[in-house]
Amino acid sequence: MSGTALTLALSKGRIFDETLPLLKAAGIEVLEDPEKSRKLILATNRPEVRVVLVRASDVPTYVQYGGADLGITGKDILLEHGSQGLYLPLDLRIAKCRVSVAVRADFDYASAVRQGSRLRVATKYVAIAREFFAAKGVHVDLIKLYGSMELAPLTGLADAIVDLVSTGNTLKANHLVEVERIMDISSHLVVNQAALKLKQAALRPIIDAFAAAVKQD
Ligand code: PRP
Repeated sequence: MSGTALTLALSKGRIFDETLPLLKAAGIEVLEDPEKSRKLILATNRPEVRVVLVRASDVPTYVQYGGADLGITGKDILLEHGSQGLYLPLDLRIAKCRVSVAVRADFDYASAVRQGSRLRVATKYVAIAREFFAAKGVHVDLIKLYGSMELAPLTGLADAIVDLVSTGNTLKANHLVEVERIMDISSHLVVNQAALKLKQAALRPIIDAFAAAVKQD
């Protein structure tokens, strides 16, 4: 190995795909396609840099405890996890979407809110949802789910969901409508705070190359 070893935590899918051009701008090319193998550690063209594939919600944990020196993760995940132990130098403006409230097309959300009804809200994003409804003064019972939130209003489990919306196709396919946009989401670079000091020389050029490659709109 030459240089300081660096481990980058990424999740498969959109974040991985949209990170590749940023890595390329930093002179890093991932040598394997995560969709074609079950490998969890991927080599790059730089012998000292490797990529580890983790669940999106585990990226902050890996970086916080030093299992990875840096990682890329959505603002949604960071808000739920908290950013203790993490240095957040950059909004990479990739994997853009939003967190929204959605209900069944036949549910009168505006009236329910106006009348001060207690809403049952199913979500994976409990912290974001709690803060949003508290700020609006809406009383909610939050039901924590781990996926397929769209099913909750369809089965009577909840009146509303708080979930990520990108194209809106998933909501449409399940006859749900977006009634409030809570916040816009994009992915951020996160760096382990100790690594930032100890591996400064290796990390700084990568952070700078990412910063220069971030798309402005
Ligand atoms: C997200 C979200 C929605 C879907 C929205 O799920 O939970 O189900 O994307 O995208 P759309 O508006 O373009 O249809 P994701 O695929 O990220 O996986 P998840 O269910 O693990 O969150």
